[in-house]
Amino acid sequence: MTVIEQISVGLGDRSYPVLIGPDLLVMADKYLADLIVKKQVVIISDTIIGPIYQNSLAKAIMPICDRVEILQVPAGETSKSLSVLDKVCNDILNIGIDRNTVLIALGGGVVGDLVGFVSAVLLRGTQYIQIPTSLLAQVDSSVGGKTGINAKAGKNLIGAFHQPKLVLADTNLLISLPKRELLAGYAEIVKYGLLGDANFFSWLEDNWSGVLSLDKDKIIYAVKRSCEMKAKIVAADETEKSMRALLNLGHTFAHAFEAVANYDGQLLHGEAVAAGLGLAFDFSVIRKMCAKEDAIRVHNHLLQVGLPDNYASLPAGKAPISVIIEHMKKDKKNISGKLTFVLANKIGSACIVPNISEEEITSFFMAKGVNHV
Ligand code: GLY
Repeated sequence: MTVIEQISVGLGDRSYPVLIGPDLLVMADKYLADLIVKKQVVIISDTIIGPIYQNSLAKAIMPICDRVEILQVPAGETSKSLSVLDKVCNDILNIGIDRNTVLIALGGGVVGDLVGFVSAVLLRGTQYIQIPTSLLAQVDSSVGGKTGINAKAGKNLIGAFHQPKLVLADTNLLISLPKRELLAGYAEIVKYGLLGDANFFSWLEDNWSGVLSLDKDKIIYAVKRSCEMKAKIVAADETEKSMRALLNLGHTFAHAFEAVANYDGQLLHGEAVAAGLGLAFDFSVIRKMCAKEDAIRVHNHLLQVGLPDNYASLPAGKAPISVIIEHMKKDKKNISGKLTFVLANKIGSACIVPNISEEEITSFFMAKGVNHV
């Protein structure tokens, strides 16, 4: 019998469970029954995931609902926009809802972030449930209540912290993921080992192939350990005043590369994160914070699994250093115009390093052979 793993995100009266295991979607009625008070649910999915899973979910929860409505948004990052937010809010209002209506985000990170934000602002706050369908969303974006959309000035700049009532991470849903997307999600799993659990990183070095081939026990363990670490950090620092920033290991590089690549699908977030992890360890070595052997292990693992490990191996997102730095300057972690990075003391121990000058990051990029223009 398969065990369903349960983790709690401990936030007082806003605490919620994250359930991890196979077949959660088809048994959703069992897990949602207590949450659906008004018996009215709106499932919001996208044009790729919706056709695969929305009917199974609707069928599963029909016995506990009086009314189930389904909406779809276009698949892709462009749905994290004011125009789609406006349309979804109005479509939901036209259905006729109240604060007891439950929204369900059925999809990857884009759907989760958008629906979470819709839930935060609609009627000044409704309830929502995350059913993440991508590995990246299962191990990262569906947990922790960061919701939002993109602004012209940058990614995720319009948003709110708004926690879901439940996260159902059904590992069977990962079967339909393209290999490249699965691998990109795996980069976030590696991130957890590197930022706070050296034993987990060693476990990944030994078990990555089982995780990526979706061996039942291994994928469940990898998702569970990632969610456990995230839940602990979120419980300690929900609104990122301090240690939650550690979850951004590799992300200052990654967000800049994604901005350069224009979020057009040529570079997946997880691929940018993988390259960012390699670079964050290299930068930590150059700053004499971390042993070179640890950086070598990080690079070896990323390369072994087939992820980019540095700037040169990125499939997109390349630009002159000055352009990359302009994007880095927009990072929400920066203080008084100085760059802040999450770097590493060793595998399993990340730290926040403020006050990094443009000159220092420029020399680092030059040392890595990136063009200086
Ligand atoms: N993805 C980083 C965070 O949730 O804080």
